[in-house]
Amino acid sequence: MSGEQAPTLQQQPEQETKPDEPPPAAAAEAPQESASSPAAEEKPLSWRALVLTGHGGYEKIKLQVKTQTRPQLQAGEVLVRLKACGLNFAELLGKQGLYELLPAPPVILGMEGSGVIEAVGEGVTDRKVGDRVIAMSRSGMWQEVVVVSANLTFPMPEQMSFEEGAAIPVNYITAYMMLFEMANVRPGKSVLIHMAAGGVGIAVTQLCQTVPDVTVFGTASASKHETIAQGGVTHPIDYRTKDYMEEIRKISPKGVDIVLDPLGGSDTQKGFSLLKPLGTLVVYGAANCVTGQKKNLLAMAKTWYNQLSLTALKLMQSNKAVCGFHLGYITDGELISRTMFKLLELYDQGKIKPRIDSCYHFEQVTDAMKRMHERQNIGKVILLPEAKEEEAKEEEEAAESKSNPEPAENVEKAEAAVDEKEEEATEEVKAED
Ligand SMILES: NC(=O)c1ccc[n+]([C@@H]2O[C@H](COP(=O)([O-])OP(=O)(O)OC[C@H]3O[C@@H](n4cnc5c(N)ncnc54)[C@H](OP(=O)(O)O)[C@@H]3O)[C@@H](O)[C@H]2O)c1
Repeated sequence: MSGEQAPTLQQQPEQETKPDEPPPAAAAEAPQESASSPAAEEKPLSWRALVLTGHGGYEKIKLQVKTQTRPQLQAGEVLVRLKACGLNFAELLGKQGLYELLPAPPVILGMEGSGVIEAVGEGVTDRKVGDRVIAMSRSGMWQEVVVVSANLTFPMPEQMSFEEGAAIPVNYITAYMMLFEMANVRPGKSVLIHMAAGGVGIAVTQLCQTVPDVTVFGTASASKHETIAQGGVTHPIDYRTKDYMEEIRKISPKGVDIVLDPLGGSDTQKGFSLLKPLGTLVVYGAANCVTGQKKNLLAMAKTWYNQLSLTALKLMQSNKAVCGFHLGYITDGELISRTMFKLLELYDQGKIKPRIDSCYHFEQVTDAMKRMHERQNIGKVILLPEAKEEEAKEEEEAAESKSNPEPAENVEKAEAAVDEKEEEATEEVKAED
């Protein structure tokens, strides 16, 4: 098993595997199934994965079935069978070749998921087979089975669904770190969040509710205003038909204390000018570069050309703070771990709850991405590794007729079998358009 085709997460920095603060112990004495036991080794593993095969439109993501002998887990690793995976804006960027942390194609996309531990490696004492966990990585999570460091798995509260588990890491860690570590939100402050109906936007809104008397200005398409207002956005603003700067100034002539900017370009300049004295702008994305499923060089150039440019002197004279945030560049595993446990505590207390917009099976990945590209989602879009029911049935039939040597019809199901190398086989199956 090699490269990005392996259900292993090679891109994790070493520090991430050694948090000082281990996750709460699961029953350590419970019998552990080791992936390296002879019985486990004999059984080949077959799993579905969404592979980015090149940069471009939706057609570049292929659903493949991979077959391989069971992986040998390294010390400290666990094998997780994923039940749900999160779709993030980063994957829209990655598909177009605009996400610099994603390895070159072919590569399995996905940064977060949730599922059940199927095997544990040596030295793992605080996770056991059968545990429901959330798991994270920089890439490689859009597949049925993954091998991750146990320290990048987090036990799921009993009442948490797999969909909710997969919706937490990227959106909520980002929201939490920006609000509490960088912008230091406090009672009585005001916050402007763009894309307020999206995954991060809803996480930010919920976290703002944990602090008394915080006013939230949120930009979103008009059809989503009722939902985000119910979720805690004090002033929803339709950025498509109105000038959001004017709208904010009508309500709060002095501006706002905190601007969280995922858009880039001229919106970063607007955000900076909207800040009250001693206010904080956190820049954390460049969604303005994306106008559709394919790369738009003009939009990229416009965003780059209009970006905020400041000298240290001007910054000093403006009495404002400008921060940048990128979760992908946080290599301190302990920091990530600590934040995840705080978030799980907030979930347990009923203070945060991911809003699931929609769930799509792996073969519907195009529809899932379209939903985000076309700005329809309110909350998190989830991908389900398990085949759609009919597909599962077809697969069962195919497996049956494989053992019965008369394969005539069912070979159609697999569109193409590609890349048989070493001991691993990859089979491409048809994804829905
Ligand atoms: N720096 C980091 O570590 C980090 C981590 C996570 C996310 N982010 C950034 O945070 C932003 C939100 O990410 P997310 O995953 O939560 O996505 P999301 O907000 O769920 O994204 C989709 C929604 O954003 C709005 N939108 C605004 N401009 C858009 C565009 N150009 N294309 C498509 N939709 C657009 C649309 O809603 P409305 O029309 O209703 O606004 C759309 O429904 C992205 O910019 C992402 O790159 C950064």
